[in-house]
Amino acid sequence: MSKQFICPLPWLHLSVAPDGTQRVCCHADKNHLIIDGNKTVSFFDKESKKSISNNSFYKHLRTQMLNGEVPKACETCFKQESIGGYSPRLDYLESYPDVEFKSNSSLDIKSLDLCLGNKCNLECRMCSPLFSNRLSKTFDTLNINYNKKSSQLAESLWNSKEFPWEVMNDLTELELIYFQGGEPLISNLHKEILKKLIATGKASSISLEYSTNLTVLNSELIELWSHFKHVQLFVSIDGVGKFAEYIRYPLRWDEFENNLKSLIGTKLSINFATTLQAYNYKHIPDLLLYLNNFKDHFGVIPEPTHVQYPNFLSVNALPQPEIDKSTEEIIKVLDSLTPTTKRCHKNLKSFHSSLKNIKTDKNLYIPFTAYTRKLDVIRSESFDSLAD
Ligand SMILES: C[S@@+](CC[C@H](N)C(=O)[O-])C[C@H]1O[C@@H](n2cnc3c(N)ncnc32)[C@H](O)[C@@H]1O
Ligand code: SF4
Repeated sequence: MSKQFICPLPWLHLSVAPDGTQRVCCHADKNHLIIDGNKTVSFFDKESKKSISNNSFYKHLRTQMLNGEVPKACETCFKQESIGGYSPRLDYLESYPDVEFKSNSSLDIKSLDLCLGNKCNLECRMCSPLFSNRLSKTFDTLNINYNKKSSQLAESLWNSKEFPWEVMNDLTELELIYFQGGEPLISNLHKEILKKLIATGKASSISLEYSTNLTVLNSELIELWSHFKHVQLFVSIDGVGKFAEYIRYPLRWDEFENNLKSLIGTKLSINFATTLQAYNYKHIPDLLLYLNNFKDHFGVIPEPTHVQYPNFLSVNALPQPEIDKSTEEIIKVLDSLTPTTKRCHKNLKSFHSSLKNIKTDKNLYIPFTAYTRKLDVIRSESFDSLAD
């Protein structure tokens, strides 16, 4: 059958946002959460798995795909493909080639994406309170709008007492857990989940993946990971040295770099993710060259993502000549790199499509500079003197 409009995820995947709401996947449009009747489904509802399997929203989504329609929630992937880019959908089709695509089949959850709330030890400039509790205060001080109810839920829900262990136990087909956050490596609940999977003998058939800022790495984590089938880290990195410290406040570059180097020679698979934004676009060539030093050990071409919110931090906030000059320099460096893994090949393709047609939006420049100055004052930093 043609898989032109199919993504396997609605047949096998569950994705949980920091506030417990469920979505088709973490790339899906944020306005299209899973609903049951007119109620948003939460992972913390004891009925969560049952309501998802028989859920009419999910069935409709599958039918749309089988009928050759693009579901609204999945437009991001199809848009990326329409400009010649690689999309998560294509990646998932490769990972799950044998799914039986029927509109009425039940959801056998093989893959679980858990954003374990919003507890984080950093407050990155482009992030928001839904993902970092530390940013709530900053957003309040700077009078920036955000969803307070979701952020509060993200802060209060993710503890051992509230966690729906029975839903988790029901996931007998589980092969992969993707932990995000907040920062998953500082979450005690995350360690508790791993310990339970080890104690029940499930760990050896489950792979783990993480999106992490890699500021905290210790022997306890390494020991826990050793029980699992495979562990892969997607390390977030947006700049080198002082640029990383400026964006990922209050990261210490030397600590981050030590953690990264300590992963050389381990069995873990290491890849990178980079958020392209007004703060780092000019410095992406230096970041690519820095990462390339690790090419014998890690997948060094990062997966690029454009900043989504706030939009005044997007690359589009920069003047067009600056965008064009940096794009040209990034392409020059990309052309000099040799992808060593399949994922690096894909990321290289994604990078090229992410760089296409970036147009300045003059309305963004003033909010970008105003936000930057205010945050600089709060943090005693200076974007202008960063390049010196
Ligand atoms: C929210 S973080 C959570 C996991 C972990 N704390 C980390 O930083 O990797 C997941 C990913 O989202 C990226 N990210 C942060 N703010 C973003 C934004 N405004 N738009 C798009 N991606 C963003 C981060 O750089 C990171 O790679
Ligand atoms: S480390 Fe991750 S969750 Fe924390 S503030 Fe940065 S991007 Fe957000």
